[in-house]
Amino acid sequence: MLELRDVHASYGKIKALHGVTITAPAGKVTSLLGANGAGKTTTMRVITGLLPATGSVVFDGAQILGLRPDRIVRRGLSMVPERRELFTEMTVGENLRLGAYTRSDDKEIRRDIEGVLDLFPRLRERFGQISATLSGGEQQMLTIARALMAKPKFLILDEPSLGLAPKLVDEIFDIIDRIRPTGMSMLLVEQNVRAALAVSDYAYLMETGEIRLSGTAAEIEADPSVQDAYLGT
Ligand SMILES: Nc1ncnc2c1ncn2[C@@H]1O[C@H](COP(=O)(O)OP(=O)(O)O)[C@@H](O)[C@H]1O
Ligand SMILES: [Mg+2]
Repeated sequence: MLELRDVHASYGKIKALHGVTITAPAGKVTSLLGANGAGKTTTMRVITGLLPATGSVVFDGAQILGLRPDRIVRRGLSMVPERRELFTEMTVGENLRLGAYTRSDDKEIRRDIEGVLDLFPRLRERFGQISATLSGGEQQMLTIARALMAKPKFLILDEPSLGLAPKLVDEIFDIIDRIRPTGMSMLLVEQNVRAALAVSDYAYLMETGEIRLSGTAAEIEADPSVQDAYLGT
């Protein structure tokens, strides 16, 4: 579904990605794991057309490297960025409707709003509330729910648990786990290796702009170097 081959990218003269190869199959959760500064967000910026690169990025059978970001979104690839970008002066409901701005199927939009409210009961309670007054965790839920409203074929989540209190971190991963059975294809970017592996089918471990390890989530979890450096066991 999404396939990166030998992707190289730089910030000016500084090379950030050194030949990244990742395959994220349809209907599965693939996680890209790694410490702060490893190059995860840079990889997401290449996929979504925000940063030029060399190599190949194939989505849904077509080369998307070099396409404009809005073209890539139209092909069905949506990203929830690291920094939550809500329309904070608007209500929860208005933000959800904005998520569906590329769609015109009114009846289905209303049905999908019900669907995401089932997935995020807290947002149902706060439907008419101004988004600025939500807690950090609720804002993260709303960002994910809004991305789902666009009905993407593929969803990228860049560190959804970053900066959240432990209880909310659990809730965010629980939500990802509840999205899984819908067959949504996802690429989950995380520093929280343990929690991400628990909701993933496949995983890639990135260090200093390179993929160090890849395999099924169970294989990565069992790897002694991962146990040592990331799982503290
Ligand atoms: N806008 C930028 N300009 C220059 N260097 C950057 C920029 N953004 C990120 N970097 C550098 O690229 C490397 C990878 O960063 P990033 O992809 O954000 O890592 P991660 O998301 O894994 O924490 C880091 O060394 C970071 O300092
Ligand atoms: Mg990042």
